[in-house]
Amino acid sequence: MKRLTVPAIRQRKVDGQTAQPIVMLTAYTARQAQLLDAHCDLLLVGDSLGQVIYGLPSSVPVTLDMMAAHGAAVVRGSYHAVVIVDMPFGAYEASPVQAFEAAARLLKETGCAGVKLEGGAAMAETVAFLTARGIPVMGHVGLTPQAVNQLGGYNARGRSQAEADKIVADARALADAGAFAIVVEGVVEPIAVAVTEAVACPVIGIGGSARCDGQVLVSEDMLGLFERVPRFVKRYAELGEAIEEAVATYAQDVRARRFPGIEQTYQPK
Ligand code: KIV
Ligand code: NA
Repeated sequence: MKRLTVPAIRQRKVDGQTAQPIVMLTAYTARQAQLLDAHCDLLLVGDSLGQVIYGLPSSVPVTLDMMAAHGAAVVRGSYHAVVIVDMPFGAYEASPVQAFEAAARLLKETGCAGVKLEGGAAMAETVAFLTARGIPVMGHVGLTPQAVNQLGGYNARGRSQAEADKIVADARALADAGAFAIVVEGVVEPIAVAVTEAVACPVIGIGGSARCDGQVLVSEDMLGLFERVPRFVKRYAELGEAIEEAVATYAQDVRARRFPGIEQTYQPK
């Protein structure tokens, strides 16, 4: 299986192929990437790794070093899906030049195909700057978790007409600037649909709508590995429970000297 490309992903909407929605999940480690790769069009090394992997209170403290390390692991663990790495808070907002330096580092050190950044019209100049210099950019509008301090929480966006209009305008600005795809997160359904219809590039929903051009979830959320999950998450497995059961059995076995057994013990010839 040859690795998919950014232009192929973008072209799917142009060709009307997003009738077959784009499948994206987050991945942070090589083993996780191996398990998800064949089933996904895109793997996102999300800055949600701050909460999910590092136990941080938000994605705000996540660093470029963290994104580079996990991005490289995910690229090593995959050969089919397009790997996109999130630009962390503070690494790109100051100027297009700052963003280029951060994004170039991610491409060089991880082998990823592109980067994702949060923000709408304010980031359009930066998206155009990177795109013109060979770095594919995925946008992210609606609920933008890096702005949690300004938003005051993780509630769904687009409930007022002014906010709804701004989200659609933000998506348009990003698409016009050359974004190859846009994530729309945590918005009331009509806004997700309006964004999807407003732009020519694929729109990938999370807490959006089944009518988006694709869907993304945080893998740990849908696998039951992360305790606090938003309402838009469907839990496809309860791996957290499975791990707890396995670990409890191991602990009992060790304490009862049932483990290691004869099969797990080296014997002299
Ligand atoms: O960081 C992340 O996991 C994301 C997705 C939820 C879109 O940005
Ligand atoms: Na993110």
